[in-house]
Amino acid sequence: MGELLIRGDNPLSGEVKIGGRKNSAVAVLPAVLLAEGTSRLENIPAIRDVATYSRIISTLGADVGELRGGVLKIDASRLNPDVPPLELVKQIRASYYLVGALLGRFGYARVGLPGGCEIGQRPIDQHLKGFKSLGAEVSLEHGEVIAEADKLVGSHIYLDVASVGATINIMMAAVLAEGTTIIENCAREPHIVDVASCLNSMGARVVGAGTDTIKIHGVEKLKPGEHAIIPDEIEAATYAIASAATGGDVTLQNVVPKHLESVIAKLREAGIEIEDNGDWIRVISRDRPQAVRVKTLPYPGFPTDAMPPMMVLLSVAEGTSVVSEGVYESRFNHVDELQRMGTDIEVQGRTAVIEGVENLYGSSVKASNLRAGAALVIAGLVAQGETEVGDIEHVDRGYEFLPEKIRAMGGDVRRRQQSEETAAEEGEECARVVNLGQMQSAHGNG
Ligand code: EPU
Repeated sequence: MGELLIRGDNPLSGEVKIGGRKNSAVAVLPAVLLAEGTSRLENIPAIRDVATYSRIISTLGADVGELRGGVLKIDASRLNPDVPPLELVKQIRASYYLVGALLGRFGYARVGLPGGCEIGQRPIDQHLKGFKSLGAEVSLEHGEVIAEADKLVGSHIYLDVASVGATINIMMAAVLAEGTTIIENCAREPHIVDVASCLNSMGARVVGAGTDTIKIHGVEKLKPGEHAIIPDEIEAATYAIASAATGGDVTLQNVVPKHLESVIAKLREAGIEIEDNGDWIRVISRDRPQAVRVKTLPYPGFPTDAMPPMMVLLSVAEGTSVVSEGVYESRFNHVDELQRMGTDIEVQGRTAVIEGVENLYGSSVKASNLRAGAALVIAGLVAQGETEVGDIEHVDRGYEFLPEKIRAMGGDVRRRQQSEETAAEEGEECARVVNLGQMQSAHGNG
């Protein structure tokens, strides 16, 4: 397991370019498997979950090209509905989309139960209910989902919880079903709209994505797709909060401010200045932030995935903040590690009460999941002294070039045993790949 070493107490400044949305990427990779031929995806982030997904679908016969400058080509002509290797399937959450995609294309899927971040119970009953409603026989045997259908037939499905995964998974299975499917009480996250656009670029007829009712008019066949995925609002929220928490001044390029509305509103409420210019935002922290109340909710509410980073900002805010988690039953497992760095947080059930302190101090901590890891990195940037964040693989699952992007904003972050020289080389490579150089000259107002 790798570690990041961070020397903190240093405001971030300058610019950062936000990559493609992780949770869109891990849904469009299986979505393009619904058609024979080569699909072309753009703005795919260079993260571990994409690498894992690519490996999984390669084992099913997909020909996955090299990810270059965000472009990924996938030829699904020789795809077959084999059982993907469990050791890979367990590494990510989004492997559950293989059930929808394989069932849609072949009428058969056998996939092990997914893994992903340990943040409370994460059942997939709503996914299975949807497949059954489309006419599939679905069973759970020895930790595998087996779904089979001679043909899928459109149906009317009401989701008991507005689940992101279930909405997308049912949409994938339904695009090739006979007749019309209506999904009600859908999740409305921006990447649901993104996946629907990708499917529509392949000839699907999905309408209403982004509202709580989606209609899918089944078609007989899909063609390969061409699709550029949306920017990652959680990566953007993470760097916005990092700028705010370090007393920084950072411009985030390649964002959709509309997708960040709840985060921007909360940061403003905490006294952070935000300039919004349509496709970039500038986050300036002039004074100590003020305590606020935060409740996480499905989109357009405050995102649960941005909550752990937000708690770091509130840990150094003036006053007492209250954070309530409205999506998962337990998502405070970063708190024990934050306490080692001097925070004052009391957790009771799904609520955390945070007494703001003036300073954090460096410590040796471990990432227990992706967003917990991101929170610890921000805490390290805020803290006096040196912080070591262990098990950094969790963070690599969802943040591309994280140390390099932070170094480009003046933060002092490196992987353990990474010499100054390699760090500099990687920084240059990152600047080339994510086009930081060009970005800086185009918008030199950072
Ligand atoms: N739920 C059910 N039954 C289901 C599905 C979900 O009860 O069949 C419950 C869950 O237990 C949870 C709530 O519904 O309490 C929401 O779960 P949802 O299905 O919306 O989440 P997910 O699809 O498992 C995705 C993201 C998460 C993100 C959530 C909420 C992916 C791969 N993961 O998870 O991302 O937190 O939506 O927005 O898309 C992350 O990126 O760090 C991450 C955890």
